[in-house]
Amino acid sequence: MLPTIEMKDGAVVMIDQRRLPATEVYVTCKTAQEVAKAIKTMVIRGAPAIGVAAAMGLALGMRRSTATGTKQFTTEFQKLCDLMAATRPTAVNLFWAIERMKKTFADAAHGGCSVEEIKNRLEAEAVRIEAEDVESCRTMGAHGATLVPEEARILTHCNAGALATAGYGTALGVIRAAAEAGKKVAVLADETRPFLQGARLTAWELVKDGIDTTVITDNMAGAMMRLGNVDLVVVGADRIAANGDVANKIGTYGVAVLAKEHGIPFYVAAPISTVDLKTPDGSAIPIEERNDREVTHVGSSRLTPEGARIRNPAFDVTPSKYVTAIITERGIARAPYDESLARLVNGAR
Ligand code: MRU
Repeated sequence: MLPTIEMKDGAVVMIDQRRLPATEVYVTCKTAQEVAKAIKTMVIRGAPAIGVAAAMGLALGMRRSTATGTKQFTTEFQKLCDLMAATRPTAVNLFWAIERMKKTFADAAHGGCSVEEIKNRLEAEAVRIEAEDVESCRTMGAHGATLVPEEARILTHCNAGALATAGYGTALGVIRAAAEAGKKVAVLADETRPFLQGARLTAWELVKDGIDTTVITDNMAGAMMRLGNVDLVVVGADRIAANGDVANKIGTYGVAVLAKEHGIPFYVAAPISTVDLKTPDGSAIPIEERNDREVTHVGSSRLTPEGARIRNPAFDVTPSKYVTAIITERGIARAPYDESLARLVNGAR
């Protein structure tokens, strides 16, 4: 399995996703500040992977703290939580992971643990979040694979693979699980402008796995559907509101509308940590606006004239009416999503 991120020798090590597929290099973060910068600058990206990175960054930062008393230690922890929370606003897994680390901290502090013991518990919790993420991707994949026909041409958008998680992937986890079950799958990977996660990362992962992969530009998806070349769509998610509205990489909404028009199932695969019952619907999801340069340039080449205004919303919201089903590690939710998602989040199947 691909190594997305790990805690190693007192550091957080992650594959540099900005440089794939041309170069496979790893970034070693020695401080929480370096981890926060890595999240902000897309060294690591993808909702679940961002959550794991933040948890590891908090554990690392507190491990390096020189505070001896719990008061100063607590103040430092709060500051680092704020730092991590300010990195990327849309993926709710980031805030979910920070909350888990806060709870671990509070339980240990209230239980009378020493600073050293709190450090150990934070590190153990970060490693647990990482392990649970891989496990939930595998379980989600197994559930999702039941929706994939014996032969299927599957369109996906962005990268919701091993690189976007601690390993295996959400949407790509479904595709991997279907392939492992002996189904004949072929993938159409949208290139995903502007950051090209589909062309660079999804295609890299799938080719490595020996899965039949075709890259298309985003504006080809409709034609492919009309020509009968797509049997189903599966994408990941950055945040799913209580009513089933899905925030995911910009361009997902267009794919969903096209899928509905062509009678093609549109599936979303995401862990329960991506479901945000506190957000009633998609209109309340904060959408990150990223740097103009992602749109104006490809690499060092400028595409647009000086003086043209640029918009760069990194995500869009797909209303739940376009979503055929939401695949989680706890089972598959279908409309009405306010009921089915609440049931899964609260533990019932
Ligand atoms: O901006 P990114 O690359 O972090 O956006 C990632 C996506 O939109 C993914 O599709 C989403 O996080 C699901 S990842 C399992």
